[in-house]
Amino acid sequence: MPAKLILGTEIREQILEEITKEVAEIKGKHGVVPGLVTILVGANPASISYVTLKIQTAHRVGFKEMMPGKPINESNPDLKSLPVDISEADLLATIDNYNKDDSVNGILVQLPLPKHIDEKKVLNAIDPDKDVDGFHPVNVGRLMIGGSEVKFAPCTPAGIQEMIVRAGVETSGAEVVVVGRSNIVGKPIANMMLQKGPGANSTVTIVHTRTKDMASHCKRADILIVAAGVPDLVKPEWIKPGACVIDVGVNRVGEKVSEKTGKKIAILKGDVNFDAAKEIAGYITPVPGGVGPMTITMLMKNTLKSLKFKLGIA
Ligand code: GUN
Repeated sequence: MPAKLILGTEIREQILEEITKEVAEIKGKHGVVPGLVTILVGANPASISYVTLKIQTAHRVGFKEMMPGKPINESNPDLKSLPVDISEADLLATIDNYNKDDSVNGILVQLPLPKHIDEKKVLNAIDPDKDVDGFHPVNVGRLMIGGSEVKFAPCTPAGIQEMIVRAGVETSGAEVVVVGRSNIVGKPIANMMLQKGPGANSTVTIVHTRTKDMASHCKRADILIVAAGVPDLVKPEWIKPGACVIDVGVNRVGEKVSEKTGKKIAILKGDVNFDAAKEIAGYITPVPGGVGPMTITMLMKNTLKSLKFKLGIA
């Protein structure tokens, strides 16, 4: 039987509805809504499309959305950016102002930054209690300790865990194999799945480019999480029958003309050979429409959580 699809597009709608409802309740009781600042430097086209989606989603769930700088185009005056040649000192000063601003619960600096700016310095300047991306070393440490210590899990791993849980996949005692050891996905999701608690309690293995026999590890996996950035890396014969396969890869392998808009769009492929894998796995995420939509959704959830921590209702 073909695998059950785990659709980020559907789970996103459920979670955004839950957030919208909670925002309205908090507004009624406490008179405040979550405030999210998105900082974009320059006008990288990929960053503009990510940021546009972030601000649209923030508006949809009832957040106060802020962006410093000047509008990038007249058709969307809410979409602003700071000059590409802004000094590091000025960018740090901008962040510091938002750190001190009581109406701001989340600060997100869109990456990548221009080369003359030290990315690490900038991310480390964000108040860890407003770091809704979960990239600050303090939040990485909190995630490692686990339990009530955790404030913000990084958005893509948080989305992956949410998908596994909402699909009803058993994680306790499960063999989880993570392919890829990035700081943004591989390392944090491995750490999250091994913690004590619901949606976790798994036995975790991380495999990477230096692993001797990647296939043998993958074949053991009840839950296989692939975040390598290599199209079709995972072969169908590596998948245990009935396993839950989460494909985090978003690889641009070409271009096509959209039937809907007539515009050129990227052809995307995951890290797993989807057509063959879906005949073996029990659950699988497609690309696109799987993990992708979860990242911005979890950013909204983290921003709401930040306000709830501040109000003492988290
Ligand atoms: N650039 C690409 N993805 C991300 C993300 O998740 N957060 C930030 N801040 N920048 C990004």
